[in-house]
Amino acid sequence: MTLDSITTVAVLGAGTMGNGIAHVFALAGFNVILRDVEQRYLDRALDTIGKNLDREVKKGKLTEAQKPGVLSRLKPVSDMAAIAAADFVVEAVPEKLEIKRAVLTEADQILRPEVILASNTSSISITALAALTERPDRFVGMHFMNPVPVMVLVEVIRALQTSDAAFNLTMELSKKLGKTPVAVSDAPGFVSNRVLMPLINEAAYCVMEGVATPEAVDAVMKLGMNHPMGPLELADLIGLDVCVDILHVLHEGLGDPKYRACPLLKKYVGAGWLGRKSSRGFYSYQG
Ligand SMILES: NC(=O)c1ccc[n+]([C@@H]2O[C@H](COP(=O)([O-])OP(=O)(O)OC[C@H]3O[C@@H](n4cnc5c(N)ncnc54)[C@H](O)[C@@H]3O)[C@@H](O)[C@H]2O)c1
Repeated sequence: MTLDSITTVAVLGAGTMGNGIAHVFALAGFNVILRDVEQRYLDRALDTIGKNLDREVKKGKLTEAQKPGVLSRLKPVSDMAAIAAADFVVEAVPEKLEIKRAVLTEADQILRPEVILASNTSSISITALAALTERPDRFVGMHFMNPVPVMVLVEVIRALQTSDAAFNLTMELSKKLGKTPVAVSDAPGFVSNRVLMPLINEAAYCVMEGVATPEAVDAVMKLGMNHPMGPLELADLIGLDVCVDILHVLHEGLGDPKYRACPLLKKYVGAGWLGRKSSRGFYSYQG
């Protein structure tokens, strides 16, 4: 497979990340087969992509005249068999091993042998996912950041089994999307979450121990370290439940107590205070 031979891409899962990934591929000129389990999820994804393209038109990144062309390259499907035409696939289904296993093994049977399968997982081992397929050397991690159309980084993760050819092609493909790929080896949390989650966790300990209020912790990091968002604002955006889940992956996978999730984070999750999505986390979003 060469970069130029990739013209059609399939994206599995049309949620938060899947719609963003489909958006950037279509914008870069690829035909995109966007697959989800039900039509209503596909409708929601296309609606979101349309609104996000409008935003890009307003910012002058795209002209109004280019928008219909981008939308026409998106083919929403609920039938998995339709992904057979894909030259490259990115999986973005929910972060549950059983769901990933079912989707990846099914896709593996449908796709041509030379096609590379990439997973957007945040925390599951790329090496273990590769081993579920009959193409472990053509399996790679492609960790996009949320919101995908805005964030420039793609962590490209090399599983133990990933071939140089598949890895290099994924790096090149990421550049063709206008992204900056960064090469990372497979390890719990990769680099992004391994560095970010302990920061968020420590910020939560500061609040729990009464060292400072959430506002004060975030102000220190924004004004003193030039972070565009404070760690606790960011935690609320990511979802406190997601943060706790990723900390568990780090704790279990690396075996180091420094990754132990802060009890206050777990308490908030227990209370249903998950951040922005539940209108309450470290901050309140009512109204
Ligand atoms: N949300 C983030 O900030 C973020 C960032 C980086 C990576 N990720 C990773 O991206 C992946 C997707 O996360 P998300 O936030 O987009 O989740 P999401 O729940 O928003 O979307 C998942 C989508 O997959 C669909 N789906 C379920 N089963 C399916 C199947 N069998 N075939 C096709 N689609 C199916 C669901 O209907 C849903 O629309 C996860 O692995 C997550 O860890 C998320």
